[in-house]
Amino acid sequence: KIDELLLQVQSFKANSPEELEQFRIQYNGKKGILNDLFAQFKSVPAQEKKEFGLRLNTLKQAVAQKLESSKATESAQNDADFKDLTRPSYPRPLGSRHPISLVRNRILEIFQSIGFSIADGPEIEDDWHNFSALNMPEYHPARDMQDTFFIETNPDILLRTHTSSVQIRYMEQNQPPMRILSPGRVFRNEAISSRSHCIFHQIEGLYIDENVSFADLKQTLQFFTTELFGKSKIRLRPSYFPFTEPSAEVDVYWGLETETDYRITKGTGWLEIMGCGMVDPAVLENVGIDSNRYSGYAFGMGIERIVMLLYQMGDIRMFFENDKRMLEQFKAL
Ligand code: PHE
Repeated sequence: KIDELLLQVQSFKANSPEELEQFRIQYNGKKGILNDLFAQFKSVPAQEKKEFGLRLNTLKQAVAQKLESSKATESAQNDADFKDLTRPSYPRPLGSRHPISLVRNRILEIFQSIGFSIADGPEIEDDWHNFSALNMPEYHPARDMQDTFFIETNPDILLRTHTSSVQIRYMEQNQPPMRILSPGRVFRNEAISSRSHCIFHQIEGLYIDENVSFADLKQTLQFFTTELFGKSKIRLRPSYFPFTEPSAEVDVYWGLETETDYRITKGTGWLEIMGCGMVDPAVLENVGIDSNRYSGYAFGMGIERIVMLLYQMGDIRMFFENDKRMLEQFKAL
């Protein structure tokens, strides 16, 4: 009788998942054939027990095998049904550029169009390139303007507080004329608030040649703000930086008189967008450039600040939170 069942099991073929389930219940169910036979095993005469047991086990294995292989064909069948190569793919969400990248690229593009090229340098700097060469010797009070992160306990190694360090490196290795931009991340040990962060991005510019004048600087900045903001008025306000003399802050008039008034953030009027000045001759001498023959100007701006002006953003911390709801608003740009 078991042999007969074995044949039946071996030749069974499920035509549907329901049939397969029926088969499973019929053999493997609680009241199924296998349990039934195992129950009978007790009453089989002793001399037949061995033979009966062997066959019963063969049957049990056959059932298990059949269930296993039927399941495999079934899922293979499902897979085949699923692989419709003509189906349109899922919509794949495209990322967007970070607003800092967008505005950085725009600013670089504007200056590149008038002959500036890009210079790069390390974020971990030494004292010389970040401070001393820039006319800020040790204990110079101007160092307090840029609270510094030092690496471990070595006061010579620090996170750059501005990308002027890149300009020093460039001037050490090249001779004028030079026209460079140094974009990059900078670090300052400042309390984080809606208006300041311990990490931000800068673009600094440097132009050194014979007879470079303050008028050249002002014209270049006027060209820049007009390209970036539309028709705009700027004003240079006297200021102080150790590495430039004279020095100035650049304000742009942010009001109804500009073509960009639809982008006005909180308040109107003169808003500060960068620092600038004529490179101090002492800085040129520090890097081996003849300050009698050459002069130059430099400027530096924080990218975050410009993005906040352009896109009416009120909190600098948003740039570093990577909230998709914020980032996705820049998709179209
Ligand atoms: N390095 C200055 C800063 O980070 C900016 C600056 C650059 C000012 C060049 C003047 C000239 O604050």
